[in-house]
Amino acid sequence: MTFEQSLTTTATLIEQRLDDLLSGARMAAVPQRLVDAMRHAVLGGGKRFRPFLVLETARMLGGDQGAAMTVAAALECVHCYSLVHDDLPAMDNDRLRRGVPTVWAAYDEWTAILAGDALLTLAFELLAEPSAHPDPVVRAALISSLARAAGAAGMVGGQIIDLEADKLGLPGKPTLDHIRRLQAMKTGALIVHAVEAGAIVAGALPEQRRACVRYSEALGLAFQISDDLLDAEGDAAVVGKAVAKDAAVGKATLVGLMGLEPARAKLAQTVGEAVDALAPFGASAETLVAAARFMSGRRS
Ligand code: IPE
Ligand code: IPE
Ligand code: MG
Ligand code: MG
Ligand code: MG
Repeated sequence: MTFEQSLTTTATLIEQRLDDLLSGARMAAVPQRLVDAMRHAVLGGGKRFRPFLVLETARMLGGDQGAAMTVAAALECVHCYSLVHDDLPAMDNDRLRRGVPTVWAAYDEWTAILAGDALLTLAFELLAEPSAHPDPVVRAALISSLARAAGAAGMVGGQIIDLEADKLGLPGKPTLDHIRRLQAMKTGALIVHAVEAGAIVAGALPEQRRACVRYSEALGLAFQISDDLLDAEGDAAVVGKAVAKDAAVGKATLVGLMGLEPARAKLAQTVGEAVDALAPFGASAETLVAAARFMSGRRS
């Protein structure tokens, strides 16, 4: 199986789990408009790259795939919430996501804000349940990891730094350090959590956890550089979202700072760092190595 095929296979499994979560008993008391908007936000698209990382890290380290599946679904709920809010008129003002109208464009802003809120809280509801892990101490570690990654010192903090540049303007050209920090927070934090959560589920040893963190930090940076490259040179019909926007609104990106060719070189270097970090795991890291290499060639 190629890497793309195994990503697609996992995406189908995750889609099914998310569909089950967003229907049936759990949604019985939820107002229909909110159910519809949450389902619009989550189902029917997305690479499910973060869930894939949870599952594959757990697999590499011998963790239970059933528990990893719940943890992966919780993370995808947070990721989808982050996209719903990111697309709002007050933030990136985007109407297209995963090839379909964004939640605010399909419904309205207040519904999109509330659907995002509901997905964020659903994630923690899921992690608190025994299906995430039989041991409550492990569940608390998963909850803590996700809270830190998604919150003010993680994704939300990164979104503030990102938006400050285009809403308020930066005093000068952003520095490399500024962009690295912004990207590590807004995108890297949830990718680090994905790998960390897989390691927590598997009960990884401290040195295994450290190698996983090194891998995921490089992977997170590579992920956002490739996203910025897709914005600069991708095709909206393939990417499934608006392109050529970052430069237009003055986003601080490595592509904007360095230009296309140096950004591609930085991406290749960062992928190399991610791959190197997996050396201690030998052949068992094959899929995570492929996940890092996928950053250099992805078209969506
Ligand atoms: C897009 O994430 C937002 C970023 C953090 C760059 P993805 O590229 O993973 O989006 P989906 O989930 O596949 O649509
Ligand atoms: C979004 O970054 C990162 C999030 C935390 C949602 P972008 O704004 O670059 O993501 P896209 O390009 O809209 O998917
Ligand atoms: Mg954004
Ligand atoms: Mg955006
Ligand atoms: Mg982008």
